[in-house]
Amino acid sequence: MADIQLQSISKRFGEVEVIPDLDLTIPDGQVTVLLGPSGCGKSTLLRMIAGLETPSGGDIRVGGRVVNDVPPADRGCALVFQNYALYPHKTVRQNLAFPLRMAKVSSEEQQRSVTQIATTLELTPLLDRYPRQLSGGQRQRVAMGRAMIRKPEVFLYDEPLSNLDLELRVRLRLEIARMQRQLKATAVYVTHDQTEAMTLADQIVVLRKGRIEQVGAPLELYRSPANLFVAGFIGTPRINLFKVDACVPETGGTLLQIGELAVHVPRRIGGTVATVGFRPEHARLGEAGPDEAQFVLRNCETQAMEHLGDRAFCYLRSAQGELVVLAPEADARLEGTLRLAVDVRSLHFFDAQGVAMTQA
Ligand SMILES: Nc1ncnc2c1ncn2[C@@H]1O[C@H](COP(=O)(O)OP(=O)(O)O)[C@@H](O)[C@H]1O
Ligand SMILES: [Mg+2]
Repeated sequence: MADIQLQSISKRFGEVEVIPDLDLTIPDGQVTVLLGPSGCGKSTLLRMIAGLETPSGGDIRVGGRVVNDVPPADRGCALVFQNYALYPHKTVRQNLAFPLRMAKVSSEEQQRSVTQIATTLELTPLLDRYPRQLSGGQRQRVAMGRAMIRKPEVFLYDEPLSNLDLELRVRLRLEIARMQRQLKATAVYVTHDQTEAMTLADQIVVLRKGRIEQVGAPLELYRSPANLFVAGFIGTPRINLFKVDACVPETGGTLLQIGELAVHVPRRIGGTVATVGFRPEHARLGEAGPDEAQFVLRNCETQAMEHLGDRAFCYLRSAQGELVVLAPEADARLEGTLRLAVDVRSLHFFDAQGVAMTQA
């Protein structure tokens, strides 16, 4: 069993500090997703766990053992990249067996393992084909099988699906989720795609410029983002955010002034709100009830509609800035003055530093 602990990990490339100082526990038998924009240090972290990159400081433990000086091949980690390089002149069977052959495993044992992996990944009918005779998704599964065949304790994925078309990506994403549940191995999965993270993760680690912004289960991050960055990164369409010009306590609640717009929030909020937000799916058109806040947005114009089968999102420009709301009907273009009601529990408040505030 192998959890992974990163203790005071830092990484510099020459003068450039990519990861200043990072602590993280990656639990055993779960999928942890490292999520963040391009260049934030995800691959660097993963490569340090794999042993392909040396930390500038700190310790990495796998299953309690410090592995800083352990070579990649002896760390019990299997890496799956986006560019799955299979041997073109070997069959699927030979590709799968290759790591075992290198490890001088007996040929009976090789056969047994190949049969087992092929069953798991539904590759049995393809065992005698060559890579050029496979689809992209099938090749990806063979690459995964080759990573799995030595029964690694830890799977490391670096954006393995980013080169595939959308349909295949969605299918393989589910397949990886299913496979990981079945294997119960520890997995670290790097992606910049929040939908992928939300589908696959037991735990998401949101990274920005080499620092952890928040760690939590997918729904936790969606419901209670710790700051503006996480709020904006998780959830699609994006959360609506409004800059608050004045935040004044009033009888039974708080008054938020957003430009011309006064929003009465029927709650006390501890501190001064600098930004208020709500997710598109949490606003409804109409008059606010007792536990709701009313947003009266003027001069609305529909910029675009996003149709998702039974529902549609309306992308609007308004006097208070841009926002997205659920359309009341699939083909409704919203215009003019819009009265939105949002349950107070669905409102997100942030202070001047962008840190989430709690309602009293
Ligand atoms: N070998 C290297 N030498 C110099 N800079 C590097 C090297 N590898 C990565 N970097 C820099 O470190 C930062 C993080 O890179 P990376 O971990 O690949 O980001 P991500 O995977 O999140 O997109 C980037 O600014 C990148 O340019
Ligand atoms: Mg990367």
